[in-house]
Amino acid sequence: MHELGDYDHHHHAGNHGDVWKHCALAAWLRALLDEARGPLRYLETHAGAGRYRLAKAGEWRDGIGRLLDGAEGVPARAEAPPAVEAFLQLFARVGIWNELGRVYPGSPNLAQHLLGPDDRLVLCELAPRALEILRAKLGGDGRVSVRAEDGPAHLTPLLTEAEGAGLRPVVVIDPPYSEKGEWLAAGRSLALARAARPDTALFLWYPIVSRTRPNALLAELGRAGVHGVALELVVTPLALRRQALNGSGVLLVDPPARAVAEIAAAGPWLGRALTTRGAWEARQITF
Ligand SMILES: C[S@@+](CC[C@H](N)C(=O)[O-])C[C@H]1O[C@@H](n2cnc3c(N)ncnc32)[C@H](O)[C@@H]1O
Repeated sequence: MHELGDYDHHHHAGNHGDVWKHCALAAWLRALLDEARGPLRYLETHAGAGRYRLAKAGEWRDGIGRLLDGAEGVPARAEAPPAVEAFLQLFARVGIWNELGRVYPGSPNLAQHLLGPDDRLVLCELAPRALEILRAKLGGDGRVSVRAEDGPAHLTPLLTEAEGAGLRPVVVIDPPYSEKGEWLAAGRSLALARAARPDTALFLWYPIVSRTRPNALLAELGRAGVHGVALELVVTPLALRRQALNGSGVLLVDPPARAVAEIAAAGPWLGRALTTRGAWEARQITF
């Protein structure tokens, strides 16, 4: 049985890592939908609560807050590249941002809005409170199946089960990374998913405190024969050696070329908007 720590994504919702993740996720899903290779089966191994009511203070202030409250240094919206503009428009439809309160939509909620009537969503989550919110907010959608299951452990059966057999699987893996072992498990999940269904398109988010663990993950995937592209956005210089979330990356396997180009083009605008020390770095790594 998987041991759940005390991770609660409410504390991190809307931070710069979420903004990079969700802007990239939306661009990736749109491009996959436009490929017109038939309906998709969106599988998320670590779904979270789906929607997050933001407290007055929180990490979101240095993330989505900077974009929506027009903080100093944020480039003009008119200069926003297509993936950023599309993300902001999606947020305006799905999120809440007014004097009464702020609600940040998580990845399942964004996917729910982007996917079409023939697509399906399978969402795994283990934390009871997150599950309760996820069920309440998304469970009424006939396309959505919320599972109280260990996502990584069930990934292979989920990909091979008869239900949804004709749909192209797209898998999102977004662990809490509370423990070192989750890096290894994430890499294993990607390899297992590709082995179970070679047509699976994969999306993995990872945090960047330093480059040690991301580099090890990419090297490990290369050795396992899993290849793709990683796009990173660092908003606090790594040279400061701050033991905190300095940036994050999204790792894509078998992505549409358009998605890679759009996410890469979003990096500089978001880097300027989200930098904490006036410097930022956006990188694209093929592995
Ligand atoms: C980073 S959050 C997910 C955020 C979400 N993907 C989003 O972007 O909106 C990670 C979630 O994974 C859940 N979790 C941790 N281990 C899990 C496991 N083995 N199976 C399913 N969910 C898990 C945690 O309870 C937490 O809600």
